[in-house]
Amino acid sequence: MKKLCFATNNLKKLHEVSHMLEGSYHLLTLQDIGCLEELAEDQDTLEGNSRQKAAYVWENYQIDCFADDTGLEVEALGGAPGVYSARYAGPQRSDTDNMQHLLQQLQGQENRKARFRTFITLYLNGQEHQFEGIVEGRITEDWNGETSFGYDPVFVPEGYTQTFFHMSTAQKNSISHRGRAIAKLVEFLKKQQQAN
Ligand code: IMP
Repeated sequence: MKKLCFATNNLKKLHEVSHMLEGSYHLLTLQDIGCLEELAEDQDTLEGNSRQKAAYVWENYQIDCFADDTGLEVEALGGAPGVYSARYAGPQRSDTDNMQHLLQQLQGQENRKARFRTFITLYLNGQEHQFEGIVEGRITEDWNGETSFGYDPVFVPEGYTQTFFHMSTAQKNSISHRGRAIAKLVEFLKKQQQAN
């Protein structure tokens, strides 16, 4: 079976993709390929960061690979925190601090429109391919201190009344930014497999 590295050590993300690929590729984490160093992601766009990580693996390990990067883009904040979503409130990368900071920035703001955007860069046989997934939604006015993953407790996807926090994993994956980007990647990979 063809080997493919997902440039992450996040097993939840890995299983999600693995499940969707239905066994057509053998997915490996960074650890699995012996890449123990932390990958740089110091570009100022999601596209740039996902490319930087995937290119690093391809260039140093010569293994087919893809990497993702996600940001929350809030309309009233000119697209912030965007590529800086993980450390919006500072380098300690705390979800609680980030959500508090976001709600403070939006205090008194009626426009609560926001979207999550995921970018995936794939290096397959040295060729680069990119996939994007977006989910539109809005930021809640309140937050009762719950935490799960990132901004999930304060993000309500368009067409729904509940936040990502209150959705099952399957429901969230079926409409989420990452779920949509992964679906495009998986469709592409399956076509490649069929062609070979
Ligand atoms: P990453 O590129 O997946 O590591 O995401 C960067 C940051 O965006 C994370 O640290 C989270 O703060 C936020 N984020 C990404 N995906 C989600 C999500 O599905 N829900 C909530 N926050 C997310």
